[in-house]
Amino acid sequence: MTADVVSLSRKTPEPSLEPMLALTASGMNHVNQVILDRMQSEVPLIPALAGHLISGGGKRLRPMLTLAGADLVGYQGTRQHRLAAAVEFIHTATLLHDDVVDGSDLRRGKAAANIIFGNPATVLVGDFLFSRSFELMVEDGSLKVLKILSGASAIIAEGEVDQLTAQRRIDTSEERYLHIIRAKTAALFAAASRIAAVVAECDDERERALDEYGRNLGVAFQLVDDALDYDAEASTMGKDRGDDFREGKMTLPVILAYARGDAEERSFWQAAIGGHRVSDADLDHAIALIDRRNAVADTRARARHFAQRAIDALSIFPHNRAREAMEQAALFAVLRGY
Ligand code: IPE
Ligand code: IPE
Ligand code: MG
Ligand code: MG
Ligand code: MG
Repeated sequence: MTADVVSLSRKTPEPSLEPMLALTASGMNHVNQVILDRMQSEVPLIPALAGHLISGGGKRLRPMLTLAGADLVGYQGTRQHRLAAAVEFIHTATLLHDDVVDGSDLRRGKAAANIIFGNPATVLVGDFLFSRSFELMVEDGSLKVLKILSGASAIIAEGEVDQLTAQRRIDTSEERYLHIIRAKTAALFAAASRIAAVVAECDDERERALDEYGRNLGVAFQLVDDALDYDAEASTMGKDRGDDFREGKMTLPVILAYARGDAEERSFWQAAIGGHRVSDADLDHAIALIDRRNAVADTRARARHFAQRAIDALSIFPHNRAREAMEQAALFAVLRGY
């Protein structure tokens, strides 16, 4: 390696979540305390099931967006802690429901709640966590925050149902796919960011900018999640690779590989997405076809585009530690392997 290359790599370090983790570390202690307090119930199955998922960790990215956003706009109060916990509860509830819907076995490196506790309890505890999140919002008292987060919750559910109707449909377009992921994933990222501007009583321009940041980051994040489901190179995600394939989900890697495939490849995809080729050997074949058509790399390239839009949305804010952390987080979302 030449000296030039070394100095270049020093100037452009790998994007990392570290600045975001450092920025939000003390705030996240408060948020985690609220989460632990509010997942309690007199019905022992509730904290047992919720605790199983919550103790598995998770990146806690969405509540960090609320905290970082509050920092970005110079908010001095403490309302963001409970609201960030409400955001994470919405996310946790959707994960419980999502794993039932997707028939997933593994979450956060452990057996999914539905495997251990069964579908009925998992769905009901998901409902409990949704309700807890609304209690937290009501305690906060801002109707505007309530409107944003309740709206996002409805859109997530719409996105998940919409995805169900696109399942096993090989004719799903990239546009339809983007519409689905904007709903099921990006809406919560947008709301998590936006409410930071609301508690700080920012003007509309800054509120919209934070919404834009979160929304584009959310699209990038889901694109990468969908790429990872077929990425032979990816390190462990704590989830089973190939869930999307077995369930016949038309995610962007498949949409691109199908559009670019020859007649033989297209007939494989029709059978696979139709549910007739779902063995481990079929998954290996799917990964090879996706690789041949560069579809994981191009899905990540699309994600890079949305991450850049997220970064651009921050341009109206002064350069500070929070902005730097949020920019790095957007770039990290694209490069992440888990
Ligand atoms: C998983 O979200 C669901 C998607 C939107 C892809 P995360 O990848 O943020 O899950 P955790 O919270 O870190 O486990
Ligand atoms: C994201 O979609 C789920 C929600 C936004 C609820 P996925 O189904 O791809 O999420 P994972 O891969 O199971 O985490
Ligand atoms: Mg899933
Ligand atoms: Mg799903
Ligand atoms: Mg996924």
